Amino acid sequence: IPVDPFDLVIFGGTGDLARRKILPGLFRRFVAGQMPDDAQIIGAARGDMDDSEYRAMTEDAIREFGGRKVSDDAVARFLERVHFTTVDAMGDEGWAKLAEKLPPGRVRAFYFSVAPSLFGALAERLRHFGLADAASRIVVEKPFGHDLHSARALNRVLEEYFAEDEIYRIDHYLGKETVQNLMAVRFGNMLFEPLWNAQYVDHIQITVAETVGVGGRGSYYDKSGAMRDMVQNHIMQLLCLIAMEPPARFEPDAVRDEKLKVIRALDPVPAHHLVRGQYSGNGTHPSYCDDVEDPRSRTESFVALRAHVSNWRWAGTPFYIRTGKRLRARTSEIAVVFKDAPHSIFGADAGRHRNVLVIRLQPNEGMTLDVTIKEPGPGGMRLMDAPLDLTFADAMSPDADEVPDAYERLIMDVIRGNQTLFMRGDEVEAAWAWTDPLIDEWEARGDVPQPYDIGAAGPEDALMLMHRDGRKWREIRG
Ligand code: BG6
Repeated sequence: IPVDPFDLVIFGGTGDLARRKILPGLFRRFVAGQMPDDAQIIGAARGDMDDSEYRAMTEDAIREFGGRKVSDDAVARFLERVHFTTVDAMGDEGWAKLAEKLPPGRVRAFYFSVAPSLFGALAERLRHFGLADAASRIVVEKPFGHDLHSARALNRVLEEYFAEDEIYRIDHYLGKETVQNLMAVRFGNMLFEPLWNAQYVDHIQITVAETVGVGGRGSYYDKSGAMRDMVQNHIMQLLCLIAMEPPARFEPDAVRDEKLKVIRALDPVPAHHLVRGQYSGNGTHPSYCDDVEDPRSRTESFVALRAHVSNWRWAGTPFYIRTGKRLRARTSEIAVVFKDAPHSIFGADAGRHRNVLVIRLQPNEGMTLDVTIKEPGPGGMRLMDAPLDLTFADAMSPDADEVPDAYERLIMDVIRGNQTLFMRGDEVEAAWAWTDPLIDEWEARGDVPQPYDIGAAGPEDALMLMHRDGRKWREIRG
């Protein structure tokens, strides 16, 4: 079903995010028939370019990142909707011309795909030049601040010009198919929710492992590190969706209120529950320090920690979190590890068997539930664990290309005016309020991250974090 007619202005329209995600994502929605005929996509940037040059750039981006269904005809029809305008975010140039391109009475979305230092200037000019009207909304990207103080400052400057329900803060993890499925599974089934608490859940593991290094984006990453780059936002969102109480309705504030309560219930993490790591080089790949061109960098490319949500539902159930670059495989998953059955009627020989629900974000989005069954054959009552496996691509469509990318879904939600999968200002601030003291503490201590080998599962101490609790990380497998 097509969305309402809209105009989408992408500030930073020639940048990396626009090329990799925004424009190819819009193209895929176009191919899926969701874009009304008269929708306009307007790239805006400081440089000089005309429509045809911008269309050529867009076409390259689509061919590189648009997926498998890129037919010449579809590209040509899509490009008719694409325009370019030169705008100076810090000056007056180009704004009046941009205003002329926006017909009244339609949804207007302004995507701030630029450095956060420009957010205020853009917001102010949108108002000043009369571009923002009642149907306007702005979309902002991470990093949303560097700490609580800077995030607050960003919120204040945006709120000066736009209301909270016009501000869409993107966390692309919320747009991932599986992440939304997590909510469907929890709140659409009778099966899981009664067991979803400290009485039945031994612990939860969240792993976001990547094989890439930080080469190419070292100047951003080195000021950030894994805690700010991944934990404060993406992993925090995953944790919230697992831990939150059922919202009364699947509506923006109902969901976001519950997520906020989780963040506020997080205990501070003591230093001995936190491990930082940094990858060493090998013959093929440079070390972290080489990648960021600072031999003395103390920024972490890996972090593991044990968190606690102090409320009635979760008291006593640890949440183990780890994320890092240059690890063994690209794997993101959430594992809910249930407790042992209270009594084994099969005797000690039957071994230890546990139900584990694994929600796989990537690769191969899906879910498995390990259940204990009898080993087939006449060998008596021997038990084994077998997975009930649900790979979403198999379940829904044989064409994996059909599963929409996180960005395309979120952009369409912006046009529809649905904020459920976007972060509210207070949520972002609460997340920083939890991570800030951890970062301050290690900075004050002059903590040096532990080295780990490329292709490993992180530093030794990360394994110890679990071992000393008598638990074990799941293997990182591609
Ligand atoms: C980004 C981080 O937000 O998310 C990157 O800045 C990270 O460092 C990326 O690689 C991971 O996203 P995805 O969708 O590939 O898991």
